[in-house]
Amino acid sequence: MSRPLKSLFKKEHSEEISNRSANPVFSDVANVFLSRRRLLQMGVVAGAAVSFPLLVKPESAFAAVSRPSALAKAVSLGFTSIPVSSEDTVIVPEGYIARPFYRWGEPVGLKDAMPAFKTDGSNTTDEQAAQAGMHHDGMAWFSLPQGGNSPDHGLLAMNHEYIDNGMLFKDGDANWDLDKARKGQNAMGISVIEVQKRGDDWQVVRPSSFARRITVNTPMQLTGPARHQPLMKTAADPQGEQVLGTMQNCANGHTPWGTYLTCEENWSDIFVKKADRNALEKRYGIADSDDSYRWNEVDERFSVDKTPNEPNRFGWVVEIDPYDPNSTPRKHTALGRFKHEGAMVTLAADNRVVVYMGDDQKFEYIYKFVSDKKYDPANRQSSMDLLTSGTLYVAKFNEDGSGSWLPLVFGENGLDQSHGFESQGDLLIKTRLAADVVGATKMDRPEWITVDPNTPGSVYCTLTNNNDRGKEGKAPVDAANPRANNQFGHIMHWLEENNDPASGRFQWDILVMAGRTDGNDPQAKGSMQGAAFGSPDGLSFDHRGVLWIQTDVSSSTINQKAYADMGNNQMVATIPGTNEYRRFLTGPRGCEITGIAFTPDNRTLFINIQHPGEVGDGITDPANPRAVSNWPDADPHGRPRSSTVVIVKADGGLIGS
Ligand code: FEO
Ligand code: CA
Ligand code: CA
Repeated sequence: MSRPLKSLFKKEHSEEISNRSANPVFSDVANVFLSRRRLLQMGVVAGAAVSFPLLVKPESAFAAVSRPSALAKAVSLGFTSIPVSSEDTVIVPEGYIARPFYRWGEPVGLKDAMPAFKTDGSNTTDEQAAQAGMHHDGMAWFSLPQGGNSPDHGLLAMNHEYIDNGMLFKDGDANWDLDKARKGQNAMGISVIEVQKRGDDWQVVRPSSFARRITVNTPMQLTGPARHQPLMKTAADPQGEQVLGTMQNCANGHTPWGTYLTCEENWSDIFVKKADRNALEKRYGIADSDDSYRWNEVDERFSVDKTPNEPNRFGWVVEIDPYDPNSTPRKHTALGRFKHEGAMVTLAADNRVVVYMGDDQKFEYIYKFVSDKKYDPANRQSSMDLLTSGTLYVAKFNEDGSGSWLPLVFGENGLDQSHGFESQGDLLIKTRLAADVVGATKMDRPEWITVDPNTPGSVYCTLTNNNDRGKEGKAPVDAANPRANNQFGHIMHWLEENNDPASGRFQWDILVMAGRTDGNDPQAKGSMQGAAFGSPDGLSFDHRGVLWIQTDVSSSTINQKAYADMGNNQMVATIPGTNEYRRFLTGPRGCEITGIAFTPDNRTLFINIQHPGEVGDGITDPANPRAVSNWPDADPHGRPRSSTVVIVKADGGLIGS
């Protein structure tokens, strides 16, 4: 390569720990006993017997916290768990069929532009804007026609999280210029594709009047309290109303009124500031060197020295109407600004809208938003404003298994000028700082969140890993994050008081400590029966009540080090309360598994294979793009391509049955 490459393109890039706040981490003396007792119970403390209870239950949690619901008990897993794999292919259980479906570079299906993929990375910037982006991630299904429940015809909206310049260009980032940055910008964002089952097989409908690419340059409106804030204004947008684009779109959500939510995660990697960074910029991890995407070198918008407020316009949740390709996406500032992983939408007992969200970085927080207004199924248009006003909360997990949602409201609990907040809009731009002030619980990298369809207010969250927990100068273990050097991660569960997602209190426990099923190292031992896994990330229930878990072991760790012999990234299934985990899918080399969308009949599953062939220590060498993988094309002159995969049961049955 022409220049030294850092691993800033990578998902696990976030080695800089920006949360240095001193909010409580259960380290006070009174709590140590309980914490240690819990760890002994789990076998995490060295010397303790390694035997796990079915669930890691806090002392005073009420009994129902993680019991399987009656409906869940009626569901069963009907497939045989498959072995781990280090093969360069997708493997599913016998009786299932998996097929790559929408690969990076395939035409999205615009009427007037359907450029073919060029295997050598030579597609132009304009062609990339009409093709699938790179690094497919979160994804949702929307039946056609709108308002219906068709399982055979619909739209898939999906994220293209990040890019790999070594894979995207024939010559990598040599001969760098604005046009190359623009091609990268066109390879991020969102695809909306029309898909249809014809006979037994699925096709992307091309051309389609719904087909759309949203990129880093698509105009979008700001809504909510941060709109018009001084920190949101730039020379190009003096009113602080309109932003160009969305990027680093990780996981997602979808609303009952049929819109897609896309979440801006590692956006701060894009922005570079050479001068000293202020506290806000450091807290959000704005980069301080050029060794990243290099957009800042040719596009002033991404140079914070030149356009200081532009970073404040990223780090939000964006709502997109997939049914209207001419609609303007909206960034909803009421949902807070952080490194948004996903946005799980559910309804409160009174039909207000609740959105659960993780901030994916070491020692960051779990949030929820509760709308001011109620959802009216009969009025889609009024629903479009539900995410523009409400209350944002951050989670505190107590040692005794209770928990509370702390409101982030200007003027309350010290959230005022004394801590540097000028207004609610200003506070939301500085969400992480506000959460520090109220004493939220620092978590082991919150990723996806999902809600049990059979039990209102029963919520699960993947905490993917955190190998800094317990290190000198870092937060120690606590009850909710009980492992030091948590290389394998765990899955949290909480039950909202009165089964109401809008409640201010909850009871929590841990569904599973991820890890190995061989050996006796308590730091590595998983608490599951069956399929071992680590670094859980994607997480979703299907329509039956089966919980699906996707892993994102970093490409520098797959099948080696602590993960030796654990194979490529994978997807497992469980029914909460059973503690039985079955391996349903293994991916090709170097990829992560992400994105989960079931058709309404639960007979088709779409997932995404992201970054097959990613090298472990930097971006791809353009002279050798097939060093790790050549999936899915196996073209001797091609390159690995992220792709959606469509999965059906050969007999047409329910997925997982
Ligand atoms: Fe984009 Fe936290 O995964
Ligand atoms: Ca993720
Ligand atoms: Ca991840």
